[in-house]
Amino acid sequence: MQDDSAPKREKPNEKGLFIVLEGIDGSGKTTIMKNLERYLCDRGYTVYSTKEPSSGDAGLFIRSVLRKEKVVSQRALQLLFWADRADHIDREVEPHLANNEIVISDRYMFSTIAYGTSSGVKKEMLYDILKYFRIPDLTLYIDIPAEVALHRINHNRKEAELFERESVLKAVRDKYLELSKAFNFRVINGDKPEEEVSKSVQRTVQGFLEEMSFGAGQEIV
Ligand SMILES: Nc1ncnc2c1ncn2[C@@H]1O[C@H](COP(=O)(O)OP(=O)(O)OP(=O)(O)O)[C@@H](O)[C@H]1O
Ligand SMILES: [Mg+2]
Repeated sequence: MQDDSAPKREKPNEKGLFIVLEGIDGSGKTTIMKNLERYLCDRGYTVYSTKEPSSGDAGLFIRSVLRKEKVVSQRALQLLFWADRADHIDREVEPHLANNEIVISDRYMFSTIAYGTSSGVKKEMLYDILKYFRIPDLTLYIDIPAEVALHRINHNRKEAELFERESVLKAVRDKYLELSKAFNFRVINGDKPEEEVSKSVQRTVQGFLEEMSFGAGQEIV
């Protein structure tokens, strides 16, 4: 049971709320983010939606690696993700949080841990860097079997990206499930019709906003 006298979050005076969506490729993050943004905006919240890799120069380079147009080693790729994350947090996420907005990011640090360790990069190196980054206020992990995700991807695209193979996505899903306990993810069953998944995400976020006493146009109390 929660102790009412306990601070509501680690740094109670911080502004804004940082919500992260995680899950394997094709799990529905982009679809969910769009629906969640609409749900929150309709309720008067100011929302800033963003994603990783970012649209900054480091992010654009990563995207070309994911499309297999450029090649770097797995270790270098994961370090590039950290570099892009630093740029994204400093130049985009922090200013919007400082403005007391809800920032929703499609992917964040847990993607690097899940994909990086699944591709053989040393866990210690990835965890060492993690401590320099803000932990999200809420992480929603969209859980879906790899074969369902690949079916969705293949239905929509011809070219598979770097990590879009069943064996890889299975390993990444296992890592996410492992991380979900350590980092207190809210696990959402993504293997349901879009509307049901979005409803479940909305309920979870709404409950969290109430828990945090985060009202539209209000400071956190
Ligand atoms: N609940 C759902 N049921 C069936 N299809 C879905 C569902 N959610 C999303 N889709 C479809 O599955 C495909 C993948 O969804 P989406 O692009 O949102 O996934 P993603 O997690 O953002 O993937 P990526 O990591 O590759 O960006 C899209 O074509 C989308 O319309
Ligand atoms: Mg997406």
